[in-house]
Amino acid sequence: MSILVNNEWKIIQDGFSKEENRFFESLMSSGNGRMGLRGNHEEDYSGDSLKGTYVAGVYYPDKTRVGWWKNGYPEYFAKVLNAIDFIGIRVFINGEVVDLAKAKFTNYKRELDMKESVLRRSFTFISADGSEFDIQAERFVSYASPDVAAIRYSVSSKSKDAEISFLPFLDGDVKNEDANYNEKFWDYVSSKATEESSYVTMKTRKTEFTVSAAFTWNVIGADVVTKSAVNENNGEYVGVKIGTKVSKGATVTLEKYVSVVSDRYYEANKIEEVALKNAKNAKENGYSKLLEEHIAKWAAIWHMGDITIEGDVLAQQGIRFNIYHLNCTYSGDDPRLNIGPKGFTGEKYGGSTYWDTEAYCLYFYLGTQQPEIARSLLVYRHNQLDKAIENAQKLGVKGALYPMVTMNGEECHNEWEITFEEIHRNAAITYAIKNYTDYTGDESYLATKGIDVLVQTSRYWASRANYNKMKDVYMILGVTGPNEYENNVNNNWYTNRMAKWSLGYTVESLKLMKEKYADLYKAAFERLGLTDAEVAQFADTSSKMYLPEDKELGIFLQQDGYLDKEQILVSELDKNELPLNKKWSWDRILRSCFIKQADVLQGMWFLNDQYTKDQKIRNFDFYEPRTVHESSLSPCVYSIIAAEIGREEKAYELYLRTARLDLDNYNKDTDDGLHITSMAGTWMSIVHGFGGMRIKDGELCLAPFKPASWKDYSFRLVYRGRLLKVNVSEQGTTLLLEEGEAIDIVLFDKKVSLKPGIEFKS
Ligand code: BGC
Repeated sequence: MSILVNNEWKIIQDGFSKEENRFFESLMSSGNGRMGLRGNHEEDYSGDSLKGTYVAGVYYPDKTRVGWWKNGYPEYFAKVLNAIDFIGIRVFINGEVVDLAKAKFTNYKRELDMKESVLRRSFTFISADGSEFDIQAERFVSYASPDVAAIRYSVSSKSKDAEISFLPFLDGDVKNEDANYNEKFWDYVSSKATEESSYVTMKTRKTEFTVSAAFTWNVIGADVVTKSAVNENNGEYVGVKIGTKVSKGATVTLEKYVSVVSDRYYEANKIEEVALKNAKNAKENGYSKLLEEHIAKWAAIWHMGDITIEGDVLAQQGIRFNIYHLNCTYSGDDPRLNIGPKGFTGEKYGGSTYWDTEAYCLYFYLGTQQPEIARSLLVYRHNQLDKAIENAQKLGVKGALYPMVTMNGEECHNEWEITFEEIHRNAAITYAIKNYTDYTGDESYLATKGIDVLVQTSRYWASRANYNKMKDVYMILGVTGPNEYENNVNNNWYTNRMAKWSLGYTVESLKLMKEKYADLYKAAFERLGLTDAEVAQFADTSSKMYLPEDKELGIFLQQDGYLDKEQILVSELDKNELPLNKKWSWDRILRSCFIKQADVLQGMWFLNDQYTKDQKIRNFDFYEPRTVHESSLSPCVYSIIAAEIGREEKAYELYLRTARLDLDNYNKDTDDGLHITSMAGTWMSIVHGFGGMRIKDGELCLAPFKPASWKDYSFRLVYRGRLLKVNVSEQGTTLLLEEGEAIDIVLFDKKVSLKPGIEFKS
């Protein structure tokens, strides 16, 4: 049996059970934005396991598999690729292979130290003759040197002198479990194994990404008696077998210094050289130094991004787990990269970019990192604008339609209703430009790059909306809103509302540029072939956008005809019928009134300051009881609005639904990997929900409350060159400007002047 131990900084697995191996492998994942891996064992494990090593930006276009092909379907679904296995170390004790699926062992403990981002594991191996060996493994994927990982693997012989051999290796012969046609996605390029170092280089089929992994090694605590290079499986498996002799009571340690590089950063024909050089340098620097530098990087991340919760260890562990994995997934130093819903923790979902990035993750990176990190996410979309224009053209619409799921700007999701109908994603992408600009006060992105995205997506909306002459309104027909539990609907309120907003924001932004950045304004007009008439059309479409509502109920309508559906509440359903997506036929789901995730409420969150408290209450009270929250992205939005309308308990209850989603295996799918993007939602529930953080008229506003079961909590905000600490306790709110110049902010609707280093208590 495995137990998940409560701990504020660590994820600790005490004991081992084969059945839970995948679950813990997911929890113990680690990464540095450039690469990442699941918590797989270093030594052999012949039992059930999801092997996963991932290299950022390296993917495979797996040919679409659908029953009936429809024109316009994307050719492929981009798969996050399981790449060269670089952690492997075969361990032989007196000739016996250490394999925990077969061997006898006790005292198994695996722990992920989130503060240091180090994975540690220990167990006592009992050999066939009953002798005992303590084994300890420690590894990290360096945040300081993103191409480097290091492993320390120790064996202590407790009972007698022993022959211990290690075979550190690299294995390029790996597969994806989710391959559509059970194909291998890699071709062998080259490899070399010597007694000192090895490398293997593999190339992806079709996309032709070349990845090279190399390692060097070091043994401490025992003499190396034998060593011989290993090259098997036509070169795809390389390593070195190292024989040592260990006396009773002594410990031998193998250090494996790994480097993984891809041709996304270095020339393809040089990458093995680079990988080998990196691995050798890493060995020269030594394990302790590498670890020290890595921990220092994480210390900086935690310094800005930690949230502390006193009086609730589970909540503390939960939020740190989320912050930790968001940072493992995305480090923001390369605008070609993005945040996959499973990050580096599993294969499911493929693709790297969903609207999740702009609608959820951006808030987290804005609040916890320097602005360049969030800006990289915006630049990513700007770089893919041409592809979004092509995508719209393919569908017979003007302007740009960003893909629902993508790796390189091309659509790679192939469910009809999602690919073609969930067009609301365009609005999240433009909303992110506003979000960034409002939060940072930096208008340079908007004026130089963002404006192109705004104009092209506005062209899309203006072309996609159709004018209803009789009613003198614009309508958007045949869409799927964020609520994927109904398709091909007309006038989804959220989509129409956000299209209206987006068009309006484009017009406003052009006006701002005309006033403040006249040259850039002129250049944008020329570059984009924009005319005053077109801008007037944007304004007209925005002002005449039809927004369905029910005046009697005082609510915005999910979509035309929503109230014709039989109105049942989730609380009236038999609990055994949930989750609907597992228990009901798809047809039944589509006909029902049940809403998968925040939809109208998502709009009320984005356009938060445009709605009154009363409107929020009415819509919350109508839609929350009809929402099944079967997307992990849902509860956080409701939680934020619940907090805002004074439903503190409800806000907390909703927060709990995602705070420990993976740790508590709430959806019974942690085995597949972690829900990385919804982790940002948990952060939002605390900072925007409980903390009441908003940007209004260029000012930072806070209105915190404390969940009853917490003693106190605190978070920091990186805001316009400052670091602000917010602490909320029984006694009230304390604000401390830890870094940066004095600033005025708004606390509970009152202006507060914060001076560096001086606490302000409310
Ligand atoms: C949600 C989408 C989301 C996707 C990836 C789906 O279940 O409905 O809104 O983009 O998951 O996280």
